[in-house]
Amino acid sequence: MQNIKNYIEQNKQRFLDELFELLRFPSISADPKYKEDVAKTAAFVAEKLKGAGADNVEICPTAGHPIVYGEKIVDPSRPTVLVYGHYDVQPPDPLELWKTPPFEPTVRDGKIYARGACDDKGQFYMHVKAFELMLQTDGLPCNIKFMIEGEEEVGSDNLGVFVSENKERLKADVVLISDTSMISLESPSLETGLRGLSYVEVEVEGPNRDLHSGVYGGAVANPAIILAKMIASLHDENNHITIPGFYDDVVMLTDEERQALNKAPFDIEEYKEDLGIEDVWGEKGYTTLERTGIRPTLEVNGIWGGYTGEGAKTVLPSKASAKISMRLVPNQNSNKITEIFKNHFVKIAPKTVKVSVRPHHGGEPVVTPTDSTAYRAASKAIEESFGKAPIPTRGGGSIPIVALFEEELGIKTVLMGFGLDSDNLHSPNEKYDIANYIKGIETIPLFHKYFNELS
Ligand code: BES
Ligand code: MN
Ligand code: MN
Repeated sequence: MQNIKNYIEQNKQRFLDELFELLRFPSISADPKYKEDVAKTAAFVAEKLKGAGADNVEICPTAGHPIVYGEKIVDPSRPTVLVYGHYDVQPPDPLELWKTPPFEPTVRDGKIYARGACDDKGQFYMHVKAFELMLQTDGLPCNIKFMIEGEEEVGSDNLGVFVSENKERLKADVVLISDTSMISLESPSLETGLRGLSYVEVEVEGPNRDLHSGVYGGAVANPAIILAKMIASLHDENNHITIPGFYDDVVMLTDEERQALNKAPFDIEEYKEDLGIEDVWGEKGYTTLERTGIRPTLEVNGIWGGYTGEGAKTVLPSKASAKISMRLVPNQNSNKITEIFKNHFVKIAPKTVKVSVRPHHGGEPVVTPTDSTAYRAASKAIEESFGKAPIPTRGGGSIPIVALFEEELGIKTVLMGFGLDSDNLHSPNEKYDIANYIKGIETIPLFHKYFNELS
């Protein structure tokens, strides 16, 4: 532990400078305009992995953005850890809400503000620096393989192909991912589940062209109003989702499991204040932690139609659309949910409009074991570096590729995230606390140490 602390002390500024360099790349995977920048980011990651001491570093092209691979096999008889992360980021808009530009990392109050600071550049880069640290101090306790992709934020479609074509190369005993949250530095936690995702885009089409809202208004169904009504009908008065069959496959937790989940420190007043809301919302009969952890949800991510520019234009729009996501829990299946959503949404449409539903990417929910060697290693590592054993929690987000690692490679995952839910992931002013970054670099080598010892 002393060697770890000393090395961090001596190299802390450089660890930060390198992360800042990484954060300056606008690696927005969703927008084709940034393809070159995404490629440059991959090259930077590859160079840093090589510099830290990885062998066989390769920028693997895919049908989309490249995957960066690197490894260090110290002893085939030791356990192997596959580190997964993503160097792509979400689009930063709305830009005007950022206090400082998203791709000019800035420190305020001990926190690094930049798109990707926490999700996931700041988090996967801790593994690159911990790897360097281990090689420069006591050596690697385990073999390491790195797979850092550039399409997580757009559904990891090509990573799925890469994984199934590279099963031998990716052989490992555990997948280690830092791309989730913990409660706080004072209450460290480990997420033991991720929700699945079903994502669709819907369009409601009325008249064959935009119409004068005075000449035709009142006589022709307005697609924006119809869409709003249809969306509003998807929740009942208890905020239960009304799609028939939606909850059929949901596994209910036992009372003990629910009690354990609700023991996690959570201050609802602080939560409301942080979000600037008067009250929370959600499915009747469940706590906020349950609503975000173990229950499926349906959200509108965006809704548009008609005139949204400056001033007023009197128009009855021809079309209105929305992007809708459903978060899924075990044992729901994303294809099945997409299908029942589609059938239901088409069915509830009045005859006055045409409705189309276009599925986007999906992903399956996962629960990670808490009785595995890898979980115990992560728990011990956190206990040693934080001085407190981590609490197991359920995360609300999704990392679709985790279910695929299980299915294709037969490997379970440990979600050792160091972010906070309040780090503004996908929002303006995303941040990552320098203290969390450094704590992560300190904890990761301990994971490798204990994973080797306990294996
Ligand atoms: N790192 C997040 C997922 C996450 C965040 C898990 C916080 C747990 C806690 C990941 O980058 C992400 O944003 N995933 C997307 C899904 C993807 C298919 C776009 C998500 O959850 O919306
Ligand atoms: Mn992420
Ligand atoms: Mn994300």
